[in-house]
Amino acid sequence: MGADMHLPSARGPLSESLTADLATRSTLSSRTLERAARLADAPTAPLTDEDLQLSLAICYELHYRGFDAVDEEWEWNPELIRLRGGLERLHLSALRGLVGPVPVTDEPIDRQLTAAIAEDDGPSLSRYMSRHGTLEQWREYLTLRSVYHLKEGDPHTFAIPRLSGRAKAAMVEIQADEYGGGSAARMHSELFAGLMRDLDLDSTYGALWDDAPAAAFANVNTMSLFGLHRRWRGAALGHLATVEMTSSEPSRRYSAGLRRLGFDESTTVFYDEHVEADAVHEQIASVDMCGALVTEDPELAADVLFGARSALAMDGIAARHLLGAWEAGRSALRREPSLAA
Ligand SMILES: [Fe+2]
Ligand SMILES: [Fe+2]
Repeated sequence: MGADMHLPSARGPLSESLTADLATRSTLSSRTLERAARLADAPTAPLTDEDLQLSLAICYELHYRGFDAVDEEWEWNPELIRLRGGLERLHLSALRGLVGPVPVTDEPIDRQLTAAIAEDDGPSLSRYMSRHGTLEQWREYLTLRSVYHLKEGDPHTFAIPRLSGRAKAAMVEIQADEYGGGSAARMHSELFAGLMRDLDLDSTYGALWDDAPAAAFANVNTMSLFGLHRRWRGAALGHLATVEMTSSEPSRRYSAGLRRLGFDESTTVFYDEHVEADAVHEQIASVDMCGALVTEDPELAADVLFGARSALAMDGIAARHLLGAWEAGRSALRREPSLAA
């Protein structure tokens, strides 16, 4: 049994029947298989489909912390892995459609990554949060991001055993910082939890899953997919490099947004840490990690760039979701932010 979290509330037919199976059975029911097949046939927008993204996140979570009351044997249940594979195909083909063709040039991969980032035209959420974000909007933003940051580092870490040599050494150097360099209190997931608590949010792992919209799960599912498939190791590294390369400046803005609301450095430490660390990680990730990988295996360049563009596209989906809801005067969450007791 997992010790950490409860199964989330269902968001549609598939997640309803999947969670029921996980809690009460040892393999999938025919009802769940039928519902998964129906989802695969239906013309949905997979990346923003609440039922699909939550179901995929539940499948992946069995590889992370698991759930209370779900038998650990489920992790490698062949039927569940097959169902997950079907959801992954829907997710990947939508992602490919969103990202479009990925041109590869003869330039060093770090330059191509820089160019992909420069080309990105997604809205700047950090600008909005630094200048305008209210306390309520900050709580919503952190709730959405908590699905990732409370497991910060973990999805990419799955790629480490697939690497060797310089690429591996570079990735371990980055991930060691994500995990606090040996100090549990300095783990980025822990710094984020402290930030949540300072804004009166429940920082328990998984506690706010029911509040988070599909965009939050689509983002982490993309990373989990890349991290858990050896075939996608290039995309995992391109994704990580892009996260690092697009973190330092925005982190400075997020920090400024919190200070504008009266918070001090004990609260902004999560962002301040990223201003410093990611200015360094950016180089290690793009030049050393992705550079070494592509030097060793030039065919992976396209996957590295696909991972990079996927990271940018996911940020765009989340930013548009948040800004669109706020512009319309609505909450971007499924429920109003639940404040910690
Ligand atoms: Fe980090
Ligand atoms: Fe980093």
